[in-house]
Amino acid sequence: MSSENTPAIGGSAERRRKRRAGFLTIGSRRINGQRVPIDVRRHSVRLPGLPPELAGMTIAFAADFHFSYIHPAGRIRAAVDRMMELKADIILLGGDYLTRARHSFDAVISELSLLDAPRGVYAVPGNHDYESGVNDLGEAIAHTHIVDLTNRGMRFDAGCGEAAAPSDSRCLWLGGLDDLWYGRPDHKAAVKGAPAGSVRLLLCHNPDTVDLLPPGAADLILAGHTHGWQVYIPGLSRAFIPKQKARYRHGFYHTHAGRMYVTSGIGHSHVPVRYRCSSEIVLLELS
Ligand SMILES: [Fe+2]
Repeated sequence: MSSENTPAIGGSAERRRKRRAGFLTIGSRRINGQRVPIDVRRHSVRLPGLPPELAGMTIAFAADFHFSYIHPAGRIRAAVDRMMELKADIILLGGDYLTRARHSFDAVISELSLLDAPRGVYAVPGNHDYESGVNDLGEAIAHTHIVDLTNRGMRFDAGCGEAAAPSDSRCLWLGGLDDLWYGRPDHKAAVKGAPAGSVRLLLCHNPDTVDLLPPGAADLILAGHTHGWQVYIPGLSRAFIPKQKARYRHGFYHTHAGRMYVTSGIGHSHVPVRYRCSSEIVLLELS
């Protein structure tokens, strides 16, 4: 598995350009006037026990879209287009689709419903979705092909679809959890029906959700919420980050519940600034 902050696609020239620009982004534009890019970070993830037929399966993961007047539909569409270019087998959405604002879930979900993948698109809610009316989110999603994975799970086997012989334990299990702050994350419900020997992947919004999980609950946990702290100055940023967001920032972590990847997300919740912490889409290749 790659380590934290694996370079994004774009190579060394891109990295040099970013260093020169200081990574500072404000609103929807770089300080030098260029459009803010959404980086794609690719990671190979080895999952012992993964059925060989599922090796090579790809998962595109993004969170924290934060549709709002500072992060309008055009930026959501840009993220959607970028995700679709990756042609992933599965697409996972990690919550905070809407910032508490005068916008509706219908608008952002209609953009996200353009996402499509052979093995499906799955979503869990974040804290901002609760603050904006999570029932409206559920209703908006219910009118699309996006699967609400809140406190439920499903198995993936060779071939397309989720159906398989129940006795076959060799499968990938994908479970989703409710938001930690406002919802009721239920791990038991998320893995209900998971065969004992299955490889388990859990999707949640808040990385602190791991505190609710038993040891070894998952082979991989995917979370967002932190925005990578948006402004990252090593040795300094930590002093200004609220305690609730200070434990995890961005990248891979080893936790008692399993390995976890925390994405820096797509949008912004309050101040539309990023420094040394770009918006990202994560592409995981399982092996
Ligand atoms: Fe967020």
